[in-house]
This record gives sequence, structure tokens and C-alpha cells, in this order.
Amino acid sequence: AASETPWAQQEAFEAQQIKKAASRYGAKDRKAKSEAYDYVFEDQIEFIVDQYLAGDAPDVEETKEEKMKKEREAREAEQRSEFEQIQVSRKLLPMFPYRDDLLKAVEEHQVIIIVGETGSGKTTQIPQYLYEAGYGKLGKIGCTQPRRVAAMSVAARVAQEMGVKLGAQVGYSIRFEDCTSDKTLVKYMTDGMLLREFLGEPDLASYSCMMVDEAHERTLHTDVLFGLVKDIARFRPDLKLLISSATLDAEKFSEYFDFAPIFRIPGRRYPVDIMYTKAPEADYLHAAVVTTLQIHVSQPEGDVLIFLTGQEEIEACEEMLKQRTRGMGSKIGELIIAPIYANLPSDMQAKIFEPTPPGARKVVIATNIAETSLTIDGIKYVIDPGFCKQNSYNPRSGMESLQVTPISKASALQRAGRAGRTSPGKCFRLYTAWAYQHELEANTVPEIQRTNLGNVVLLLKSLGINDLINFDFMDPPPTETMFRALEQLYALGALNDKGELTMMGRKMAEFPVDPMLAKMIIQSEKFGVSEEVCTIAAMVSVGGSVFYRPKDKAVHADNAHKAFHRGNVGDHMALLNVYNGWAETNFASQWCFENFVQIRSMKRARDIRDQLLGLVDRCEIELLSNPQDLDAIRKAITSGFFYHTASLQKNGSYRTVKNPQTVHVHPSSGLSEAMPRWLVYHELVLTTKEYMRVVSEINPEWLVEIAPHYYSKKEIMEQAQKKLPKMLGKAAGEA
Ligand code: CDP
Ligand code: MG
Repeated sequence: AASETPWAQQEAFEAQQIKKAASRYGAKDRKAKSEAYDYVFEDQIEFIVDQYLAGDAPDVEETKEEKMKKEREAREAEQRSEFEQIQVSRKLLPMFPYRDDLLKAVEEHQVIIIVGETGSGKTTQIPQYLYEAGYGKLGKIGCTQPRRVAAMSVAARVAQEMGVKLGAQVGYSIRFEDCTSDKTLVKYMTDGMLLREFLGEPDLASYSCMMVDEAHERTLHTDVLFGLVKDIARFRPDLKLLISSATLDAEKFSEYFDFAPIFRIPGRRYPVDIMYTKAPEADYLHAAVVTTLQIHVSQPEGDVLIFLTGQEEIEACEEMLKQRTRGMGSKIGELIIAPIYANLPSDMQAKIFEPTPPGARKVVIATNIAETSLTIDGIKYVIDPGFCKQNSYNPRSGMESLQVTPISKASALQRAGRAGRTSPGKCFRLYTAWAYQHELEANTVPEIQRTNLGNVVLLLKSLGINDLINFDFMDPPPTETMFRALEQLYALGALNDKGELTMMGRKMAEFPVDPMLAKMIIQSEKFGVSEEVCTIAAMVSVGGSVFYRPKDKAVHADNAHKAFHRGNVGDHMALLNVYNGWAETNFASQWCFENFVQIRSMKRARDIRDQLLGLVDRCEIELLSNPQDLDAIRKAITSGFFYHTASLQKNGSYRTVKNPQTVHVHPSSGLSEAMPRWLVYHELVLTTKEYMRVVSEINPEWLVEIAPHYYSKKEIMEQAQKKLPKMLGKAAGEA
């Protein structure tokens, strides 16, 4: 009976693993090996298995003939050139047998909804089919993607499949980066970029076909695009619209597009074993690492896909995996670690698609991007901690936050499905079966219902759409959020009191950045610091931190970073100092290295800055520079961000000035210890606390000077006169 207890089972399991490993590696260095395994199993996680067959999978088992045919084709392909091989693999995609039917459907209908499993070839093949069928002669074939990385990587893949240079016939366009030319006929772009194209070309006249891809993701921009493309379809009968989605919501899309026909691509899916943890995991990052190692030492060949929430987590996971496998050296198969997230440079993105050599195992550590936007072949094991980063927005307080949030059941199913694309697989959910049943929502709330609409409202107003309340949204945003956006744009002077776009608003819409940043750039001319402010705007737009802090050189890094905070007036100035320091060395990589600054982020900042300077020129804003005038620079920042202000309270925390909320200075800030009385902040992030990120000290009198319509002198004086305990900064720091 003893062997029935879970503990005994566990021991038996471990013993078996070690025995297996021992026979695999020979008896020579058994001691070292068993040490390595002790290390791995020291914090083994237990899973409960639950078999599941994904959805309504039509043909799970391929027939023998099919299998043999494929193997033969694969063998033959190996002997051919790379280009020919790719042509063969294109024909093996589930999409291929439906090519002619699809083209016929496109010919017969103006709008069609396409539904098919991830990996069936929708994104890479359909635009090519349209091109091959001659639609390129009538205009460009566009395809939108919710994510930058997907747009870039898919365009690269399609250029390769078509045997052309990226940027020639096939190109992509993402914010701050245009890789297209006059020749481009197949154009991948982010949904946000297509929205901006409406500004210059409201009827999309240069396009013959538009595919709104990954429609199920329901990003804010995709949702707005739905309304716009539906509208122009009425007066452009020659424009073909394809709405494609990976999941089952097709009826909803069809209904919205006046009952457009649904084209379903039968997918292949294999059974996936779902494993749940027996008990909740306190630290999913750690659990993901341990589970990966468990898979690596105990499971047959096949690559692993881990879903994490963002770059920081991915880098931490990469580091932990490297550390824990280092000791094992050549005793276990090689573990190839391939991260993928939005800011990863494209040459490193390619790594996730490289085939895994025999004997090795690839671990792809990805954000949500690998849920449906990118298909990676060879994945057999999925590790799903059950979280993603999601923005949420409280229109009442104006608090915007990017939070790690539990995923929906629909997402969990998509993630599990990644394991069963080419063969049966396993999905390790780092949460309990109970949590899955009771704690996860059925579907993700569309982004439009949980985000600030400032940008989108400004854009729609610029397109001449004035009646936003009656705009044809698939799921309308909360009225309160809409009003809040209108109110903010009014405060920024982009709208007049009738809600009409002003000259200022028109100028602001030219800039592909948040309305506050746009306002700050436009106003910077008045303060004689437009060049400095463009640099700062570029630096805050790179996404992620520009500072680099390796654990083993943390002290050196901190010292180097401190030098940028000279004068200690705020993070905006520090960012300016970083950029100017780099520019002075003629953009030397060595300088970044010595100062613990991320070279990639800097290069991106330089690109963004160049674009902003171009726009500044186009808007006839004079480029003025006065790097010494710190007040002018901070006043310019305040003129865009005057409703992102906070003042210090008695208890050492901060309170936002309007819509009072308790907030804190982010520990990464240069002002986290100085605690000035008044601050302007770039953004609020909700992590363990409500943090203000990228802050600068301001003088409260500026608020009345710059935004007299928003702040009354009385209100500011009252707050400024409140007595604070002496040496609050220090006291609070010690507490
Ligand atoms: O859009 P959908 O999920 O239906 O599939 P897809 O993205 O068009 O992917 C079809 C195939 O192209 C997959 O088997 C991928 O492995 C391959 N692909 C690739 O090799 N490299 C890329 N950058 C994108 C796709
Ligand atoms: Mg796709």
C-alpha cells in the first residue's frame, strides 16, 4: 500500500528517470549525472493529466496514404534547392487545397470571413494567392497584423517564398519603420499603420484587396478598422475585403459585415494532453523553468513553447534556464533558448524558426504573440502559466495600467493547441484544473473596452467622423471612456467646445504618438527647445528601458546611470543626457557598452527621432535648441502632460493632482529617493503598486501658467501650502 502514496510514486518516478538517464549516458560519470538530476528534481512540480481533444477537429489522424505521400514529398524536397523546397512546403499547408475555392469566393463576394486554425497558412498564403490571381495589377494587396513582430516576420517569410527582396514586391510598414517601395504590391502592416493611412487616403484607393488578419485578437486598432473598412466597402465595390480569424467567433464577424459568407479551412489537430498543477504555483516563472527542465530530461524529442507576459520575464527566464543547465554541460541534450518579444531585433527573431538539430531541444520563450500570430513548427510541449499583460483603463480616475492578468479560457485553448499542430502534444498548465474552471473568463474583453481612446478619437475626428457615439463599432467602448477621451482632447486644445477638431488637433493628429506627446512636441517651439523635446519624445517611445543592468555588474551599471541624472531634476532630462552623450560619440556602440545603455533601444530612438524631426518640419514647427534651459524643457513637457501630475503627501506617498489617486515613484527613477514635492510623470504602471514611470520635478506655478483652463490658482495654492514634515524624503526612505 505504501507505493500508493503520492510520495512513493514520486520517488519511484524519479528513480526511474535517473535510471533512464544513466542508461542513456553510460555509467562513466554517474555521480555527476545524479547530481545534475538531483538539482532538477529538487523542486519538481506535480501535474495531473487531463486528456482533451481540441474542439471540432475533423481529421485528427491522417490516412496512411496521405502520410506516405507527405513523407515522399518531404524526401524529394530535401534534394531540391531551398526555393523549390519552400514551394513544396507551401503546397503542404492545410490552406493549399482550398486555394481555388477561396479565389472563387473572393471573386463572387466583396467581403468574406475566413476561419482556420493557426498555422494553416492564412497570413502567409492568402495574400500570395491574391497576387498570383492578378489582384496586384488592380492595386496593392494589404494585410494587417496586430503586432509589429508578426508583420515584419511574416513579410520576410513571404518575400522568401516569392523569391524577392524584402521591401521590393513584398514589404511591411510598422510605426516608425517603412520597409516598402514603389514596387510593393503585397504589403503587411500593423493595424495601427493602416489606420494612419486612412488620413492620407480615406478610400484606400491604392488597394485592390485588404485582409484584416487576426481579427479574433480584437485589438483596439482592428476594431476601429472594422468600422472604417465596412464603411468604405459601400462606395468602393471593387475593393475586396477579407476578415480572417483563428477562432470560432466567425458568426459574430459575419453578422457585423452584413452576413458576409464564412469560408472555413478545415484544420488538422492532434490530441493534446493537458496537465494541471496539483496546487497553485506561487511563482510561475520559477515553475516554468522547472517544468522545462523536467520536460527536457524526461520527455521524448520535441520543442517547448513557454508563454510569458513580457520582455523582462522572458529575459529572466532565459537567464534562469541558462544558469540551471550550465552545470549539466554535455550530460544532457543541448537546450537551445530562443526568446521572442516585440523589441527583439529581427536577426534574433529568425532564431525561433530555425529547425532544431537532432538530439537538441528548442525552448521558445514568447509573449502572447505565439498564441496565434506566429506559427512555430516542431512545438510539442506548451507551458502555460496562465497570464498575459493586458491594459486596463479606469475612465473615472484616468488611470491606465498594463497589468499581468489571468488569460481567458479561449486563450488557454489556443495556447494548448500550439502543442498539437504537427503531432500529439502536451500542455502544462501552471494552474489547477479548478482555477481553469472557476477563475478564467470565457473570452478576453476586446481592447476597445479597456483602454484609453485619446488617440483613436483624435484620429476619427481627423477623418471627419464627428458622431462617435453612433459610430458602427462591433462592440462599442464604454460611453464614459469616450467622454473622457473627448474631455482630454478638449483640455489639450485638440477639440473646441463643440467637439470639433481645431487647428491644434489637426497638427496633433499628424504625429503617430499619444496626444499628450504630440502636444508636448508642438508646444516645445514656444519654449525654444523643440530639438530637446523631440529627443525626449523619441526616448520615451522606444518601449522598455534604455538602461541595462547586468546582475554581476550592477554597481558599475548604477554608477554609470547615476551620471546621466546629474542635477537630479528628473528622468526626462536623464534620457536627454543619454541620447546626447551617445550622439556626441557619433553614435558609438562602445559608448553604449561602457555606459550600460541598450544599443538596440538607442538605435530605435534615433530612428524615431529622425521621423519626429521630419514631421516637425512638415508641420512647420521651428527646430530650436537650448539644452541648458532645464525649466523651458520641463515646461514644454508639462504643456503636454499637465494632467499627469502628482504632489507629495504627508505620509511620503504621492497623490495625483486631478482625480486624486495614491501613486508612487517607480524604483527605477532617478527621483525615487529625492522625492520632490511636485512631479509630472510619463505614465502610470500598475505592478506591485501604482507606479509613476519617467518623472520630472516641476514647479506647481507652471500648471496655472500653462493650463489655466485646467487648473485654478486656488486649487494649486491650497495643495502647495500644505505643511509637510521636514526631511520627508529621508524619513520616508527609511520607513
Ligand atoms: O496565418 P496562419 O496561422 O493560418 O498560418 P501562417 O502564419 O501563414 O503560417 C503558415 C506556415 O508558414 C507555418 O507552417 C509556418 O511555419 C510558416 N512560417 C514560417 O516558416 N516563417 C514565418 N515567419 C511565418 C510562417
Ligand atoms: Mg496568421
